[in-house]
Amino acid sequence: MSKKTVLTGITTTGTPHIGNYLGAIKPAIEASEKSEFDSYFFLADYHALIKCHDPLRVAQSSREIAATWLALGLDTDKATFYRQSDIPEITELSWILTCMCSKGLMNRSHAYKASMDANQAAGKAELDDGITMGLFSYPILMAADILMFNADIVPVGKDQIQHIEMTRDIAGRFNSNYTKLFNMPDAQVDEETQLIPGLDGRKMSKSYDNTLPLFCSSDQLNKLIKQIDTDSKQPGEPKDPDNSTVFQLYNCFADEREVQQMRDKYANGIGWGEAKKELFEFLDAKLSAPRTEYNRLMNDLPYVESVLLKGAEKARAKSIPLMDKIRIAAGIRPLPFVPVEQQKKVKKEKSADDIARAEQGRRRGILMQLKGALEAVANSDDPKAAAALLLAEKAAKLATLKAKAKERAENELSVLTEELMQYKL
Ligand code: TRP
Repeated sequence: MSKKTVLTGITTTGTPHIGNYLGAIKPAIEASEKSEFDSYFFLADYHALIKCHDPLRVAQSSREIAATWLALGLDTDKATFYRQSDIPEITELSWILTCMCSKGLMNRSHAYKASMDANQAAGKAELDDGITMGLFSYPILMAADILMFNADIVPVGKDQIQHIEMTRDIAGRFNSNYTKLFNMPDAQVDEETQLIPGLDGRKMSKSYDNTLPLFCSSDQLNKLIKQIDTDSKQPGEPKDPDNSTVFQLYNCFADEREVQQMRDKYANGIGWGEAKKELFEFLDAKLSAPRTEYNRLMNDLPYVESVLLKGAEKARAKSIPLMDKIRIAAGIRPLPFVPVEQQKKVKKEKSADDIARAEQGRRRGILMQLKGALEAVANSDDPKAAAALLLAEKAAKLATLKAKAKERAENELSVLTEELMQYKL
């Protein structure tokens, strides 16, 4: 059985945090270790331009995300790890897909509608205020990312499911209008790992400003953990671990035995200060080795760059030949190029010689039928008058005939006219 292709992109606008790690990076790296998958992971830096116009941030985020994935042990011999902007075929495909995508489909995009709703809520008369064409057609670029490598499985957050549906829609339209070059991808949403709480208890997200950066310093980690919201229970009072962000975060990293021991401590009334200290020490120990590797990589960016460029080369070994097929399917072709189906038609078409031969045969047939009439003209006392009479009769008859018969008579007349030229009428 052929391997399934798994593909996902990471927009380069932020610093990787613990929510990203547990929700996306860890499961992706684990899947890439399995032999039944062919994994493609990429820095979606052209996607970053949709929401971030700060070049320093986009560039820095690209470094941090690349170094993070490598520090966490991504094996780039197994997975293909690249930067979107190193694969020009993706943006090229994006245009072809733009021309296959109805505007109505994009009008329905959640991301676009949310921006319009925000404008409406702010009382703006122009609902498209501040909305770029990048944001509007963002699902098409994402479709190009996915279809360029014919991904089967696309691990994404819930908010991205619609984009995978749109990708299928666009792929179907291309396939049925041109040639079937794309397969239909499926979104893969891991419900369980979506629920990583941030410092304030809401989902950990850059947009809530409640994240724990994955590789911040020990001191910073300690400081942030101290900021986690808790209830007002005092030390000694039993606490509910299932409603505690401190416990939930511990739970995400700990094994079963450790989790049970921590549950017991909550039941026995561990103080919040102590619980936070335990969480800090536990996380700090878990993150210490990859953090050291991360810092090493961030100090050796030429190496990280070389890894990405190697990944791009691997990716382009797939994207270049597929893009050639896509262009040809759409009619963007070298001038002499003739598709195979048309080559067959050309063969069936008759050459000039064949046409001339067929024409001669037709003439001979007509002449045979007119043989008697022509002999009668030749043998008559006044051949010139007989010839003129014959032509006049035929011409008169022509007017009374229906289309098919008329055509035949016209052919006869033209053959006769030629044959009777000798009489100089
Ligand atoms: N839009 C995705 C996000 O914000 C990132 C992304 C870009 C992506 N291209 C992709 C994810 C292709 C999966 C496949 O999370």
